[in-house]
Amino acid sequence: MNLRTPLLLASVLAVFAGGYTLADDDDHEGKDRYRRPKGLGMPADAPQIWKDECGSCHMLYLPGLLPPAAWQLQMDTLAEHYGSNASLETAEYQEILDFLLRNSTRNRLPVESRGRPGEPPRVTETRWFEDKHDEVSTEKFQRESVGGPANCVACHRDAERGDFDDDRVKIPR
Ligand code: HEC
Ligand code: HEC
Repeated sequence: MNLRTPLLLASVLAVFAGGYTLADDDDHEGKDRYRRPKGLGMPADAPQIWKDECGSCHMLYLPGLLPPAAWQLQMDTLAEHYGSNASLETAEYQEILDFLLRNSTRNRLPVESRGRPGEPPRVTETRWFEDKHDEVSTEKFQRESVGGPANCVACHRDAERGDFDDDRVKIPR
């Protein structure tokens, strides 16, 4: 599914990671180390505007799912958001951006985007996501009842509240 040639990876990183290097003192452990996201719960300070705007086309992706630099990239490219236009007024943009950054700062995940140049980073293409789902087949992700890997709520019913416990996972038929 993912293209992983070093050349492509290098060009993707050049596009997406330029200027966004995270200050990360775990670096000596290697870029490719598997890292788990932190702070996956629904933040108490979640603004309504974020729920309305960022939950209108798809489920709400909690800030803990991506590192701050990735959210910055998301918010900087809303006019070309995976083929959709998700642009916002300045005040809304600022409120949502501040919220996302504030609540993902605990994450020291690298900004990962592998295989689709021209798109902002995806949760579903991070190393930890692939790692956690290596037993879930492409066929299951592509089921009509699931709607693709990005639709976490299909299998993790309370994903929008940050509940990804594998005891409560259920893949629909
Ligand atoms: C106009 C519709 C629309 C709006 C509004 C919208 N998105 Fe999206 N978003 C999309 C589409 C389409 C995709 C790609 C879905 C796919 O490939 O399965 C996407 C994907 C994403 C992904 C990546 C999911 C993955 O594959 O890991 C993130 C993160 C995301 N959106 C965040 C946001 C945020 C934050 C906002 C609010 C600022 C927002 N979206 C508003 C349409 C929208
Ligand atoms: C097709 C169903 C399906 C979809 C869609 C899906 N997952 Fe999962 N997920 C699973 C299954 C099944 C497991 C348990 C894997 C295992 O234990 O081997 C899992 C495990 C996880 C875990 C680890 C839970 C633990 O207790 O260790 C996390 C975190 C997670 N998923 C996050 C996500 C996120 C975030 C999304 C959406 C971007 C998502 N998942 C989409 C099926 C899915």
